[in-house]
Amino acid sequence: MEIRRSLPSDVSAIAAAEREIFSDPWCERDITSAIGTEGAMCYSAIKDGELVAYVIGRIIAPEGEIYRIATLPRFRGRGIAYRLLDYAYKTELGEGLEVLFLEVRSQNEAAKALYRSYGFKEVGIRKKYYKNPDDDAIVMVKQGVHNT
Ligand SMILES: CC(C)(COP(=O)(O)OP(=O)(O)OC[C@H]1O[C@@H](n2cnc3c(N)ncnc32)[C@H](O)[C@@H]1OP(=O)(O)O)[C@@H](O)C(=O)NCCC(=O)NCCS
Repeated sequence: MEIRRSLPSDVSAIAAAEREIFSDPWCERDITSAIGTEGAMCYSAIKDGELVAYVIGRIIAPEGEIYRIATLPRFRGRGIAYRLLDYAYKTELGEGLEVLFLEVRSQNEAAKALYRSYGFKEVGIRKKYYKNPDDDAIVMVKQGVHNT
């Protein structure tokens, strides 16, 4: 499996995954913009030429934020999201990242477990942040090497 920065050629596969996985999918235009923006923290995991996972985020050093991370359903439970997160995090440390934030649905146990396993701590809650279905957001943060 290869992990690398997301390319414009990944956009249609990421958009297809978004439609398959999320109730509020990002469209191709959103993804293209995220990949192309200054400070883009967008990485793709590729296996046999196919997208199997991706992460979309942005850093404005020293802070970064993860907006999306997903593994295609048939590739879950193999450590792929963890490796992707680790690759993105370590690469961005070299770009000045010190503190990484994210929000996660309070009922998304798999994602919360992934983030906890990678050292994110829960630091806040945003009540009724999500729609479709309604849910609270848990705010999580991981401090970089300078702050641990
Ligand atoms: C969350 C998600 C990205 C995890 O992807 P994955 O590739 O299956 O995760 P990994 O195999 O790398 O798991 C790493 C760790 O996360 C935790 N984890 C992942 N899936 C889990 C599950 N279903 N239940 C409990 N813990 C889970 C475990 O701690 C796991 O470590 P372990 O296997 O050593 O126990 C995947 O379930 C997914 O795409 N979900 C839908 C999209 C989503 O909700 N994204 C997050 C919000 S943007």
